[in-house]
Amino acid sequence: MSLAEEIKTLASQQAQEVTSLRRHLHAHPELSFEEYNTSAFIAETLESFGLKDVCKGIAKTGVVATIQGNHPGKKTIALRADIDALPITEQNEVPYKSKNPGVMHACGHDVHTASLLGAAKILNTLRDKFEGTVKLIFQPGEEKIPGGASIMIKEGVLENPAPAAIIGQHVMPSIPAGKVGFKSGMYMASADEIYITVKGKGGHAAMPDKNTDPVLIAAHILVALQQIISRHCDPRTPSVLSFGKVIANGATNIIPDVVKIEGTFRTLDEKWRAEAHKKMVKMAQGIAEAMGAVCEFTILNGYPFLYNEPLLTNRAKQFAIDYLGADNVIDLDIWMAAEDFAYYSQKTNACFYRLGTGNPEKGISSGVHTPTFDIDESALEIGSGLMAYLAIEELTHEVVSQS
Ligand code: NI
Repeated sequence: MSLAEEIKTLASQQAQEVTSLRRHLHAHPELSFEEYNTSAFIAETLESFGLKDVCKGIAKTGVVATIQGNHPGKKTIALRADIDALPITEQNEVPYKSKNPGVMHACGHDVHTASLLGAAKILNTLRDKFEGTVKLIFQPGEEKIPGGASIMIKEGVLENPAPAAIIGQHVMPSIPAGKVGFKSGMYMASADEIYITVKGKGGHAAMPDKNTDPVLIAAHILVALQQIISRHCDPRTPSVLSFGKVIANGATNIIPDVVKIEGTFRTLDEKWRAEAHKKMVKMAQGIAEAMGAVCEFTILNGYPFLYNEPLLTNRAKQFAIDYLGADNVIDLDIWMAAEDFAYYSQKTNACFYRLGTGNPEKGISSGVHTPTFDIDESALEIGSGLMAYLAIEELTHEVVSQS
């Protein structure tokens, strides 16, 4: 039997168990950096599989475990799952509906966690089949800045042993269950929050000459900032600047003193990201000053952009084709959402791929971060089996250079 066949058999035998794990996690979601019960459940489950090296309390609620192959080898491959849930009230009427009011696994992190637990069980069973080490990273706080990944990295998750590569997966309801998707190179965007306050001098709208109108100045700033994207950004670098909140709380005949604007800036180039920040501040403050107002400009740095190392990602895609067949492996496009897995991709060779979880025929099509998000649970068998397969196959390959 080939390795792929052997793993598929194991994944199929334990499918019910992994589904129960996912349902338990789904019913007991916890918010970012508060995943105490989730963390304990993960550690207990790993220990029940016979794993010896299970380390708790990294970044407070993170869990890291290693599985050594029975053959000597120095290489380490890391597999990562995020474990936190979102502040959303679940509307699905399912037996495993969230029992924690106002908290829901609406981004599939229950699926990632259960899949990685399933992969751990398979890898532990197949220790004779590989050399080197698999490091399992169960990471808290993906949904909340500064992101659990950045804290785990600071606490040394990419050291002792340092992985040659890290692989992560994320559910995607727009891809049917049974399929997975890959994108090599630039994949997901950096995401920064922008807060602008324009301070002028309000007053009666009938006497504009007596006021410094922050509404008009804010409008100029909003329009001008788009010029940073259209005239200063290399057209080959995807960039988005969107403002979703503008508060000018005056009235038809009242000019307010202050206007507040909030938005997001996303791109896929760290150098350009830093330059754009400076240009935006300079332009907004210059316009405000020229028009007699003051502009406070705050940028809250979010996650960096996510880069899928091409050699690793193309190999992983080929392994996925071996495992699932070419028809079930699709190519993805750039995605302007952000993900804290990007922090790992800034430090080591990384591959972040998508696990198809949708099934429109069964009515499973809601997007992530919605109260009706759910998955076709048949995806769990691939989520766990493919992860294990990628780790073992990757352990048998040469370390690729950091690019
Ligand atoms: Ni997510």
